[in-house]
Amino acid sequence: MLEKATIHDYRESADYLRARIGATPDIAVVLGSGLGALADTLEDAIVIPYRDIPHFPISTVSYQKGEMVIGRLGGKRVLAMNGRFHFYEGWEMWQAAYYVGVLKLLGVQRLIITNAAGGIKDTLRPGDIVRVSDTIKLTANSPMRGQNIPEFGERFFDMQRVHCPKMAALAHVCAKARGFSLTDGVYAFMSGPQYETPAEIRMLKLLGADVVGMSTVPEIIAAAQCGIAVLCLSAVTNMAAGITGAAITEEEVLETGARIRERFVGLLTDVITQIAC
Ligand code: HPA
Repeated sequence: MLEKATIHDYRESADYLRARIGATPDIAVVLGSGLGALADTLEDAIVIPYRDIPHFPISTVSYQKGEMVIGRLGGKRVLAMNGRFHFYEGWEMWQAAYYVGVLKLLGVQRLIITNAAGGIKDTLRPGDIVRVSDTIKLTANSPMRGQNIPEFGERFFDMQRVHCPKMAALAHVCAKARGFSLTDGVYAFMSGPQYETPAEIRMLKLLGADVVGMSTVPEIIAAAQCGIAVLCLSAVTNMAAGITGAAITEEEVLETGARIRERFVGLLTDVITQIAC
């Protein structure tokens, strides 16, 4: 296994970014597939490709950009991650979560995580948005496996308080104001890149999962360790395997993602604008 990054690596990444962006962002947002449009709405934006940031992994998903965009939205200083690092791309779990440690060193206290997910719960439909209230990880290691970095937190840490109730309540209110409702749900991490089998989805359903995806959980674990408050929102892009019997394709995932983009970006804009920092 690749040697984990040390606190010095994280510091070099953070020092580089601090020199480029100045004041600490009020909030960071990770833009899942198809949600890069939010980054385009930031004012006075500075764009920093991941390859320019010391020690940063470089996203290989073709439709994700692999850059940070720092700018203003509704009076807030926002750091948008346009593209993330997935276990299925070959990154270690700690690499998928690396940016969270860097955000911590920058002083960021709030993180909105977005993703595309398959819907497991019967009442969900493609196009729905789920507020993730909890997660299940059956596959892949913890990003915190191996040498602990005490600057980020304890070796053993609690996972029950990472999902911020205030941001969750605000997200529900903002969705209502826009004429739709969010449901709360449990997100199950699967390592991918293949979509799940119907038997796996039946298992996840029995275990209490409502949506399933291949990202997000490494970052939530890292945020829990270092005390960053999370709001996680999943765009349901397809029903999970075996639920309708239809084949799941990347095209469908991207198409539905594109269909809900406007609604999702609108919701994110309202949440970011109205959040009390
Ligand atoms: N499974 C896993 N990841 C996904 C899915 C799915 O059905 N849809 C979008 N991301």
